[in-house]
Amino acid sequence: MTVLVTGARGNIGRRVVTRLHAAGQQVRASARDKGTLTVPDGVETVGLDLTAPAGPDGAADGLDGFETALKDVDAVFLYATRGSAAPFLHAAKEAGVRHVVFLSSPASYEAAEFRGPIGRIHRAAEQAVAESGLDHTILYPSWLATNAHRDWGTAIRAGEPVELPYPAAQCVPIHPGDVAEAAVDLLLHDTHRSRMQILTGPESMSLDEAVATVGAVLGRTIPVRAISREDALARREPWLSAPVLESLLDSAAASVGRPAPVTNAVERITGRPARSLREWIGENRGEFENREDFEL
Ligand SMILES: NC(=O)c1ccc[n+]([C@@H]2O[C@H](COP(=O)([O-])OP(=O)(O)OC[C@H]3O[C@@H](n4cnc5c(N)ncnc54)[C@H](OP(=O)(O)O)[C@@H]3O)[C@@H](O)[C@H]2O)c1
Repeated sequence: MTVLVTGARGNIGRRVVTRLHAAGQQVRASARDKGTLTVPDGVETVGLDLTAPAGPDGAADGLDGFETALKDVDAVFLYATRGSAAPFLHAAKEAGVRHVVFLSSPASYEAAEFRGPIGRIHRAAEQAVAESGLDHTILYPSWLATNAHRDWGTAIRAGEPVELPYPAAQCVPIHPGDVAEAAVDLLLHDTHRSRMQILTGPESMSLDEAVATVGAVLGRTIPVRAISREDALARREPWLSAPVLESLLDSAAASVGRPAPVTNAVERITGRPARSLREWIGENRGEFENREDFEL
């Protein structure tokens, strides 16, 4: 069985590659710039832009084209893209791909987000997958535990307070390895394939409780400073557009004091209970302590 993993350098994608390879599967890992992709020995790499127009293989611009990327592929792990992936999905159907596992976002259906930019991008991508006629399962993971280091790592390493516009907003941290393990099961086996799987961690907690969990693992108190929505927008990181941040703030505001839904999908699919935020922080404490033992 050959599995094409798109976004193979991505947070979840690279974990999917590692697990498939460890399970002895044929893996083809793709990135738009395959020259900078690091994969385990034995994993094939291809240059693939999911939003490229259909056409002949385009080696000239560093891409391998859909035909090469999809040759003999049985299943595809797919990311959402800003542009349309419809031509790629059409090519996948033509190439005989049997199942697509599509990493989407609850923003696609959550009341506070589905009209915003994150919701629109993911709904359009879901629609393209549905219209392709490909058999598929859509994954809706909850709040990725990796957000803790992406959003708070700098402040925590510097010993500064973590600034939160909505400290009481609720999230359900999920271990990124659990998302990858569920994806791998769905790529390889029929058993849990369905229209969608809502994957969550084991418990809903407020964002300030999540910060306290990091502190508990590190053995120190991490102060939290509540800031206004306006200040959060003014301090926006350059990689986040203003409309996307607005949408994330809307979602956080809507979840204040309202526990987020928890499912047992991780356990049902993988046969193991979902891992906790504490467990992920414990495995990666070096990242919060400025050491170099962070496992990405
Ligand atoms: N953060 C959360 O709490 C959370 C929760 C639920 C769902 N999600 C969803 O999960 C996804 C992010 O997952 P992640 O953290 O694993 O992402 P990530 O690390 O940012 O990786 C995204 C991947 O998408 C690939 N990609 C983007 N556009 C592409 C294109 N046109 N053609 C081919 N590949 C393309 C990138 O490949 P290149 O190497 O070519 O750049 C990259 O590897 C998003 O859809 C997000 O909404 C996130």
